[in-house]
Amino acid sequence: MSKVRIVDLTLRDGHQSLLATRMRTRDMLPILETFDEAGIYSFEIWGGATFDVAHRFLNENPWDRLREIRKRVKNTQLQMLLRGQNLVGYRHYSDDVVEKFVTKTVENGLDIFRIFDALNDVRNLEVSIKTAKKLGAHVQGAICYTISPVHTIEKYVEIANQLAELEVDSICIKDMAGLLSPKVSYELVKALKKEVGLPINLHSHYTSGMSSMAMIKGVEAGADMVDTCMSPISMGTSHPPTESMVYALNELGYDTGVKLDVLLEVREYFMKLREKYAGYLDPLSTIPDTQVLVYQIPGGMFSNMIAQLKEQNAMDKLPDVLREVPKVREDLGYVPLVTPTSQIVGVQAVINVLVGERYKVVTKETKDLVKGMYGRTPAPIKEEIIKKILGDERPIDGRPADLLEPEFEKRKKELEEMGLKVSDEDVLIYCLFPQTGLKFLKGELQEEPFPAAGGAVSGTFEVEIEGKKYKVSVAPPE
Ligand code: CO
Repeated sequence: MSKVRIVDLTLRDGHQSLLATRMRTRDMLPILETFDEAGIYSFEIWGGATFDVAHRFLNENPWDRLREIRKRVKNTQLQMLLRGQNLVGYRHYSDDVVEKFVTKTVENGLDIFRIFDALNDVRNLEVSIKTAKKLGAHVQGAICYTISPVHTIEKYVEIANQLAELEVDSICIKDMAGLLSPKVSYELVKALKKEVGLPINLHSHYTSGMSSMAMIKGVEAGADMVDTCMSPISMGTSHPPTESMVYALNELGYDTGVKLDVLLEVREYFMKLREKYAGYLDPLSTIPDTQVLVYQIPGGMFSNMIAQLKEQNAMDKLPDVLREVPKVREDLGYVPLVTPTSQIVGVQAVINVLVGERYKVVTKETKDLVKGMYGRTPAPIKEEIIKKILGDERPIDGRPADLLEPEFEKRKKELEEMGLKVSDEDVLIYCLFPQTGLKFLKGELQEEPFPAAGGAVSGTFEVEIEGKKYKVSVAPPE
């Protein structure tokens, strides 16, 4: 009987996709000892947006979460999502900060790093992969899956081979938007198994309703691990239900090693949590959104664009925005829509529509993307777009982080000069999030209250359009 391993994402991607990443650590801990008995291969519990949200909105030290979970989880491996050189933030950090972050994460108990770059520019993964490998962690190189004229099976094999050269232990096909169809899943896994040979982990959001089908076909093609979430935090923009996947795979003759009766106990716990967190749940994100098959907008991004437009009283512009998103994406070199490129494309599309003239107003982030500050785009950006957005400036060619000065010691000194007694972990909070991180370390932040039902929107920032200030809400989808 061949083995298929179950990776449960409830405590990271699950609540990030459905509950605005707001699950409190104290609500995770009571179920861990039971959950740990279920036979799950790995729990994804850290990284992505959790680091940001925990300190910014919940007044929680993200490192404490990792430590507290590790204390209670003995059998199951713990994993995180790392955004390559962006770590768990939204810009490139210097190499010393990356090395320190990965090192401290291993020291605090993490086993598996899933590392991706929004542009699949492997140069942006080198430092984190090498550091984690050196420390003996399992490194999973993730490939952001998307659909575009340049994203062929051959292209994915090429990226996977680049990751294999960096000696990753496994490959993740990371389908942020739920675009992976059963047919492509089968073909892609087959090709990767044949050409690269590493274990394959499938990650596919339920957004379009195809995820379970894609998983089963991928497993038939030889996928070794599948990502799921406990049923109360599953489906919609989240993932296939863990229990159903285990049942289906067992019946098909795959050995998952997971005990369904234990999962039912875990389910009961998360059912209650879902009620408690109902105020964070956007009903729209729980229904399959088949529009994603046309617009390729990942979990979270769609509902956030709705929120943006609602704030501007411009909901009637939604169809225009949805048409604009793929155009902006094409202009920007067919970037996959994942943090941070999903926000860049989403916000720019909204601005283009609201202003009424394309790229008359561009965000700093759009400019940086065109400048090469995030890395190499999958397809080259057309000269006319470069001109329109950069004017006379020219894009850079090298690895973006090569331009960055070491940062860690400087930040550490700054904190010490402020009279704060801090650990290296604390310094990293400040390195990654200089504003909110500092407030957190000074004890100036508070846990936000639970919102009333329907009241939830995460992270907002302001854009100025022709002298008028607009609030734009964007939750990071990965
Ligand atoms: Co995800």
